[in-house]
Amino acid sequence: MQQPSQNELEIFLDIATEAVMTAGVILEDLWGQLEKIEEKGRPGDLVTEADKKAETAVLNILNRRVPHHQILAEESGLLGMEKSDFLWAIDPLDGTTNYAHGYPVSAVSVGLLIEGIPQVGVIYDPFRQELFRGAKGLGATLNYRPIQVSSTTQLNQSLLVTGFAYDRRETKDTNYPEFCYLTHLTQGVRRAGSASLDLANVACGRLDGYWERGLSPWDIAAGIVILQEAGGKITAYDGSALIIESGRLLATNGNIHQSLILALDEALPWLKNFYL
Ligand code: IPD
Ligand code: CA
Ligand code: CA
Repeated sequence: MQQPSQNELEIFLDIATEAVMTAGVILEDLWGQLEKIEEKGRPGDLVTEADKKAETAVLNILNRRVPHHQILAEESGLLGMEKSDFLWAIDPLDGTTNYAHGYPVSAVSVGLLIEGIPQVGVIYDPFRQELFRGAKGLGATLNYRPIQVSSTTQLNQSLLVTGFAYDRRETKDTNYPEFCYLTHLTQGVRRAGSASLDLANVACGRLDGYWERGLSPWDIAAGIVILQEAGGKITAYDGSALIIESGRLLATNGNIHQSLILALDEALPWLKNFYL
């Protein structure tokens, strides 16, 4: 398949923008009005009518504008009859726990993978009214103004963010040692509760780096493009090429990438030693 033209990427960006803005209105309307909050399977993994209604709105737009593309949506799974080179990854409400508790840190995230590579991404935060957009080769913007990653070069001068997956009660691969060690080494590690916004905030330079495990493609597809187009770097924890399906990524401004790879590797031995 040929790489889509600039014009085609811009059309996809506009479709994703229409989708996130429409879903964003639904999240604003339902804010503080939730009647039903359910657990999806794992303890703490919530779903609300806001997730479902926002997802339906996004699906309606994609089905109308790109009916032959495949869709992977958090609440509906994989949709689309035919195999396609185009896969839209949708998180209709990224930060459901925050939203359900009335903590206003959530977003709608819509990314487009073309032949498995994230090439278009749009994230909308209805609380701050911030629209992050990016497309391969076209740069990244926040509310239509170009953004770029921070210039911090030292871990001890950096502010990071991470998260903890819903399987944390079932595995030893919890991210707890990494969280402790990086808190020790840096000016702080935030746990904001919305992976897409974590990536967007590294992209616009508010944060210097982000790592997390247990993520799904809908959490990260849009943020990956936006961060890369803002000059950031994304790899696996050990610096090798990112495999989206692994659910594990390290995203930084580029400058602190190598230091963070080392720190992630040192975290568990450090913690064991610290508590001896
Ligand atoms: C979650 C958030 C959170 C991350 C979790 C995700 P959800 O998504 O992005 O920051 O730590 O791993 O599952 O459930 O709010 O869409
Ligand atoms: Ca999510
Ligand atoms: Ca979600």
